[in-house]
Parts: sequence; structure tokens; C-alpha cells
Amino acid sequence: MLIKIAKPSDLHESDVTPESIYLSRRRFMGGMAGLGAGLALSGHAQANADYSDVPDGDAPAWLKEKISDTQWRAITPSDPDKDKIAPFDDASGYNNFFEFGTDKGDPARHAGSLQTEPWSVVVDGEVNNGGRFALEDFAKPSQFEERIYRLRCVEAWSMVIPWLGIPLAEIIKRADPTSKAKYVRFETLVDPDQMRGQRSSFSIIDWPYVEGLRLDEAMHPLTLLAMGMYGRELPNQNGAPLRLVVPWKYGFKSIKSIVRISLVEEEPVNSWQQIAADEYGFYANVNPEVDHPRWSQATERRLPNSLFSPNTIDTLMFNGYADEVAEMYAGLDLRKNY
Ligand code: MTE
Repeated sequence: MLIKIAKPSDLHESDVTPESIYLSRRRFMGGMAGLGAGLALSGHAQANADYSDVPDGDAPAWLKEKISDTQWRAITPSDPDKDKIAPFDDASGYNNFFEFGTDKGDPARHAGSLQTEPWSVVVDGEVNNGGRFALEDFAKPSQFEERIYRLRCVEAWSMVIPWLGIPLAEIIKRADPTSKAKYVRFETLVDPDQMRGQRSSFSIIDWPYVEGLRLDEAMHPLTLLAMGMYGRELPNQNGAPLRLVVPWKYGFKSIKSIVRISLVEEEPVNSWQQIAADEYGFYANVNPEVDHPRWSQATERRLPNSLFSPNTIDTLMFNGYADEVAEMYAGLDLRKNY
């Protein structure tokens, strides 16, 4: 057991001490070493996730306020050697965001052109309570939480990133799905004026970038809608102002800059499936036993690394979250449903 998130039911009165609450924007309870397995909510974890070097962003006042009110409820990876939080420069400089280009540096170079304010999100489909919501109103009713998760890309690199956001389940509950809702479909903004990758005639993606989850996956307590990372708002290249984070799935499921969340009856076709269905499936659960047709998924390069020190580690089933999520896939052939 490497990473475990506390269910609200695991919280005891004595755990919710002022110490276990998020301390300040610049000093998170991000203890990793010494936590041991299992829950650590007492607030006595090492506050060793120091974000003092992380540059200030330019978040609107409401978002700053939400961030400063974040509750530390995440349980962090417990392997102090392997699961170090990636330096902010790696997490915000080595990205996949094809709307801004295909090179890992393109998103950081070009995503500054994205206007993230004002931003609204449409919630529609099989819901009783849909509509278009200003991001601020969308976020307001929920308490921000920090979640320190591994992100494992299908390309076999990985990082540990401290996200800030709200459980997707809260948004879905508020939308009040009808009995027909079986899946959740997500869309990224389409705006070629702001997103130069969408202007490129060489692009292999049929915009918008689309992703999907089964309803039970979307409702799982690990599934996060992130609006920040490293104690600040999301940099544009990481999917500002709103992105999904599904830590037991390959990174392509974690769709960025979301403008639409639809509850639907049929399994959505996600962008990578549309491009190469024999290589990228709907489920995309991290699985070291099912290789990509063109490369092994048994190991990963954990960033930060270098040519001389590739920092190769074993990939874990469900990215180390099997205890929390494996039961959702009982009886499912994971070789067929990759
Ligand atoms: N979302 C959109 N809209 N466009 C993309 O190209 N790339 C995905 C995912 N979300 C992508 C996206 C892939 S392949 C990965 S690995 C993660 O974002 C990378 O997230 P990061 O750049 O924040 O590490």
C-alpha cells in the first residue's frame, strides 16, 4: 500500500486538529518520509513539502481564497526514496498538451496565450440540474483538498505532483444524474486563436480533446477536479483553470482546460482511442502486465531524471492504487479492456 486517501468516514474528531488542516499557501502538510503505510491524518506528518521556491501565479482573488482554505486530507506516497514530489520546474516544464504543440516544452512556451478568466463550464446531458456555471460558482460550494498523486504517462514517464482541487463526485452529485447516466464525458476548450496546436494542419487530434470515465470511476473519491498545484493555481500548461486527475489511469485520461462535463448513456470515445484504438483504450488503467503494442509498460522513468541517471522504477498495478480501485474492475478482462 503506497498511497491511500482518507475517506471522510476515516476522519475522527481528534484527527481534525488545526495542525491537520492546510497550514498556509506556502507550507503544506505534504509529509512523505516517515508516514508509513496507511492513513496519516493526525497532522504530525513531516511538513516537508516546501513550495517556497514555486513562483507566484496570478490567480483571481476568489481562487486565492479557496487555495488558502485548502484542507490537507491526502495521504502521500510513502516511499521516501522514489516518491519525491517533482520540482515545480519539471511539473510545469515537461508537459503533454497537444493544443499547444507536440514537443514537451511547447505547452510551457505557448500556453500563455490561453485566457483562463472568465471561464465557464457546461454541465449537461443526463442530469436534472445542469447549466453553464462560472468557474467561481462551480468551485465555491466545495472545500479544496490537496492530493499528492503519482502521474504515470502512457509514454512511460512519471512524476509525483501535489494537486489542489475538489472531488469530481461532488460536482456530479450536485448535477443530480438521471438513471440513464452511465458515463461522464469531458471536453477541452476549442479556440484555435488561443491554442496554436489547434491551428496546425498536422494535428492528429480531431478537436476538441475528449475523455471519458465510467460513472463509478468518476464518483471514486480519488478522482479529482484540479484547479491548482504546488500551493498555487494551475499554470496554463498544466490545464488551467480546471483539469481532471485520475491517478490510477494513464495520464491521457486527465483532460485539461475543461469546458464541458456531460453525463451520458453510452461509453464516450476518447481522443486517443479515436486516433489509435489498438494502442489506447477507454479504460487506460496503469497496468505493468499489459504492454503498449510498441513498448513495455513494466517500468517508468520517474522525473526528475537525466540521460545518465534515468531513474527507472517498476510500474505498479493501478499506479499503486490497487487497494482503492481494483474492486471496480473485478471480472473485467484487463487485457481486452486496456
Ligand atoms: N488534455 C488535453 N486537453 N490535451 C492533451 O494533449 N495530454 C494528456 C493529459 N491531458 C492532454 C491532456 C497527457 S498524454 C498527459 S500525460 C497529461 O495530460 C500530462 O499532464 P501534465 O502535462 O500536467 O503532466
